[in-house]
Order: sequence, then structure tokens, then C-alpha cells
Amino acid sequence: MSYKPIGKNLQGLAVTPNLQGYEQVCRQFSWQQIRDELAGLPGGGLNIAHEAVDRHAQGPLASHVALRYLSKQGGVSDISYYELMLQSNRFANVLNHLGLYKGDRVFLLSGRVPELYAAALGTWKNGCVLSPLFTAFGPEPIRQRMRKGAAHVLVTTQKLYQKKIVSLLPDLPELRYVLLIDAGQDGSQDETQDGSATVLSLPLLLEQASTSFTIVPTAAEDMAIIHFTSGTTGMAKGAVHVHGAVLTHYLSAKYALDLHPEDIFWCTADPGWVTGTSYGIIAPLCHGVTSIIDEREFDPQRWYQILQEQQVSVWYTAPTAIRMLMRGADNPREQYDLSRLRFVSSVGEPLNPEAVIWGQQALGLPIHDNWWQTETGGIMIANYAALEIRPGSMGRPLPGIEVAIVHRETEEKTGQELTWITEPDREGELALKAGWPSMFSGYLDEEERYRRCFVGDWYLTGDLVRRDGDGYFWFLGRADDIIQSAGHRIGPFEVESVLMEHPAVAEAGVIGKPEPTIGELVKAFVSLKPGVKPSEALRLQIIGFARKKMGATVAPKELDFMESLPKTRSGKIMRRLLKARELGLPEGDISTLETDDGKNES
Ligand code: PRX
Repeated sequence: MSYKPIGKNLQGLAVTPNLQGYEQVCRQFSWQQIRDELAGLPGGGLNIAHEAVDRHAQGPLASHVALRYLSKQGGVSDISYYELMLQSNRFANVLNHLGLYKGDRVFLLSGRVPELYAAALGTWKNGCVLSPLFTAFGPEPIRQRMRKGAAHVLVTTQKLYQKKIVSLLPDLPELRYVLLIDAGQDGSQDETQDGSATVLSLPLLLEQASTSFTIVPTAAEDMAIIHFTSGTTGMAKGAVHVHGAVLTHYLSAKYALDLHPEDIFWCTADPGWVTGTSYGIIAPLCHGVTSIIDEREFDPQRWYQILQEQQVSVWYTAPTAIRMLMRGADNPREQYDLSRLRFVSSVGEPLNPEAVIWGQQALGLPIHDNWWQTETGGIMIANYAALEIRPGSMGRPLPGIEVAIVHRETEEKTGQELTWITEPDREGELALKAGWPSMFSGYLDEEERYRRCFVGDWYLTGDLVRRDGDGYFWFLGRADDIIQSAGHRIGPFEVESVLMEHPAVAEAGVIGKPEPTIGELVKAFVSLKPGVKPSEALRLQIIGFARKKMGATVAPKELDFMESLPKTRSGKIMRRLLKARELGLPEGDISTLETDDGKNES
């Protein structure tokens, strides 16, 4: 079914959209202009924390609320830009006094609490590199990421430390300090030694630290963030982002989220993922707005209450959350005053057209889908406040972003030539012209893997899309086996590796199976070692095993036993075929399938 475009009446909008005259703005765009809207470090250079906090704290926005924190217990506390500057200065001093310098790695593992935000900003101030982790991860993904990222410091809570970190310490020789957010200030939990790491009370250190700090000079090309993200082969990769990325954060929030200084902004993403950093921390602060931080997890009634009570004006959320809200109240505006809400957008997975329309009916506002990836660092394609929405479309490229649809030669042929798809409505891979400021500058220690993402000047995204005759992009699927579940990117290889660690499992293949609310659920197929019999108890035991190691978000929700898994002649499990068979879809090209007699199937 096709849906009618949703036109915009600019007179009817509560504020004048930042982006008007889309084509002209695109034509005249220059990144230098955006750089000029930011401050830069006194004395030269660029630092995310200075753009996000200090330049506001030293100007008219000093007493403006930067973060409004809604605690688990129901308390509300405000932190002004000035206060956030002091708190992040303290954290920067803590790092500095512990002997951590430019380029050292600071990992965060905590829920949404104010300390996390001050720690992120203080890390950048001290020239260190931030790597956020997701609290729902089990010990295994955490171990891999901290090891690969050579974590020097971990900021976490006592509970998470005990539950997920202590057992990993022998495997983390580079970890020097664990700073516990919720340890006592009285020194009672001061300083314990666990393997190579010293465990310290963060409140005590902050208390002792000075509130003044001169930001360590960083340049636009200096490393600022490592976001671990999954691929289809191998373990998670560390996508590296630089301080200069702040230009994209700022620009995209201006145009795609339409932030204005008086906005109350709420990004619901967890800070363990890229959206929670780019748009939960950096972008709103760069615009001097008030950001809502809700410590608790999703709950439809409370979410509506937050929109009402906090008078949220711009809301950035995810399709899974929207679909969960859609299952609840048909008309939340009968119960809640949502009149302050003026712009809603979503990211992370396909937003079905019904959800856009639901927004219009239930919230009184259509939902603006936008598209990006960990590697792009910020929003690249979006629906805009002043432009018509085509329900089901991701929208149009951000000014400054050059986009193409291409076909590339398969790797075997190594030609790596691109064929350009210029006619409308033809499927191809989405490619972005390299060089925008938040483009990842590498995969940590994996140069070859990084290089393979590019052909000439073009970064290939792995997403299949089409463009209609008016330049709107439509998402069609992934070109590879990556699973997108509740907006979280999950690499099948990582899940398969953990399943194979179970003593009964001989081989494992993992796919994303379409599911109406979370988009895709993780489904595993395993064959068992000789002599092991499949049973319901074993099935549950293997799922439980994976959950314990990986965390519930990543572990398979469904698991089927198979005699043997379909493989290519070179021994690769054919996930594509597992998926086609599971969904009753055509099996496509199976010429490389290995059969029992060792020959190809076709
Ligand atoms: O496949 C696309 C999907 O999510 C992938 C990126 O995931 P990740 O690196 O975890 O980044 C999350 C932060 C945005 C993309 O390659 N994706 C993202 N946005 C959309 C989407 N798929 C369809 N529609 C979207 N709007």
C-alpha cells in the first residue's frame, strides 16, 4: 500500500524551521560556514567538550539548564551549563592526576546518570578517547571491546563492576583504574587493588579535584571516540571518530532535528550506543538546549508523562519504541498534554509508514525518519521540518552530504569498479562521498577492514536503497547479514562464536528474523556434536548459556536444531540460505552450496 505524502504548512509550525529552501542551501553549503558557527578552542584547535559546554558556560547560557536528570527514584535535578563545565573540569583533573593523557582510553559502563555525562565531557577535555559500552551486554562483549580498545580506565557502578567486570580483570592487563560512580565519599571504599587495576571511589576523587581546567589542545583530526559496532565477519570493530565530528553533530541537529535554543530535547537512546553519544550528549549541548536524561527504561505511561511534564519540544527516539507505543493508547492526547511537542524523529531501523501516520493521529505530529550508521557518526539522510514527508522514506541527504546509489563488483572479482545507478527507483547500495567531518577515520587496528569499506572516494554503507524521482531515499534492506534488532546492530558472527563455545554445539548459524515490534529477532540454528541428542532442555540451556555470556539483547531468542548447516564449499555457513528457508523465500543462487556428497547443489 502506498501512502500519501504529508505536506507541511510552514504557517502552521510552532517555530520557523532552520532548514528552508533545501535545494539552495545544499548548493551553497560549505563546511567552513559550519565551522564558523562554532567557537574553536582559544588558541586554535577543536574540542567537542568546548563546543558542547564551555563556550556556553562562559557566555549568556551559563545558567541555562543543560541537563535535566530524572532519577530512578523519581527526583528531578537540573545541571546548568556552568555547573556542567565545573563537573567535567573536575573529571578531567581526576584523569590528569591519575596520569592519563592525550590519547588514553576511557571506557564508560553505566546507565543514564549525570556522572556519565560529566565523565564523557571531562574525558574529551583531557584529550583522552571515550568508548561507551552498553550496560545490557554480558561479560563477553564487554571483554572483547575493552581488550581490543586497550581500556586504561573504566567508569562504572559497583553493581556492574561486580557482575560483569571482576571476572574479566585477568584478561585486561592494560586497565589501570576502575572508577566507581556510586562508591562512598568517605574513603571507606577508597583504593582496592584488583589485578593490575586500582579501584577508586569517583565521588571522592571528584570532591578532591579542582573545578578549573584548561582543555588539552586537540585538533579536528584527533581521536575522540571509539564506538564498537558489529560486522558480519569477525568480532566487533572499533569505529574511530575525531573531534572534528562535532561539526556534523551540530549541523545535523540544526537541520534534521531542527533544534532551536529554547527547545527541551529528549533523545531516548542509551549512551552505550552511538545515538546516545552523538545525540544524547554532544549535539543538543552544542545547540545550548536543555536535554532530558531519563534514568529508567521504556514504559509507555511514564514516557508520555515525561513528554507532558518536562514540556519536551523535540523528541528523538526509535521505531521499536514507537511501535510499542502504537500498541497502547490510540489517543494519548486525551490523557496527556503533548501540546509543547513540535518535532518528532526516529532512527535506527526502518520506520514503517503506519508509524508515521500513527504519529500524526496520536501525537498530532508525523514522525520524521532519518538514517545514519555508527561509521557515519551523525545523521546523513533525513526528513526535515519544512519538507514534505513521504511515509516509509528516510528522506533526503543532509546539506554537505553527497550520496549515490551504486553496484559494486563482488570482492572475488576485485575490480572494485562502481556502476552508478542514476535512474529513479532502481535498487543499489547506498554510497556516501568520503570526507564529511564525522566520517569514521578508521577501524581500530584493522586497516584492511577499513579500506574495504571504500571504493575510490566513496564509502559503501552496506545498505540497499532506492531513490525516487524527487530525490527521496527508501530503505530496502542490508546487503550483508547484519541484524538490526530494536535499533541495535548485532553481528551474527559474534553470536555464532559464543554458541560454539557451548560443549554440545558443533556449528552455529545466526540470522535476523523479521518481528513486528523490534524489527528483527536473533534466531540461531545449531547442529550438535556427535552423540548429543537434541531436546527442549538442551535448547533452553544453550539459549541460557548465550544470554549469560552476551546479555539478553544480543543472545538468540529462538534456536532450532539442524542435522547440519548449509555451507559453501569453502566452509562458510550460508546464513542467507538459512534465512530464505526460515521465511519460505526463494533460495536464490545456491551454486556454491556444499552437499552431502561434497558436490555443489546445482
Ligand atoms: O541498516 C541501517 C539501519 O541501521 C544501520 C546502522 O546501525 P548502527 O551502526 O548501529 O547505527 C545506529 C545509529 C543510527 C544502518 O546501516 N538503519 C539506521 N537508520 C535507519 C536504518 N534502517 C532503515 N531506516 C533507518 N532510518
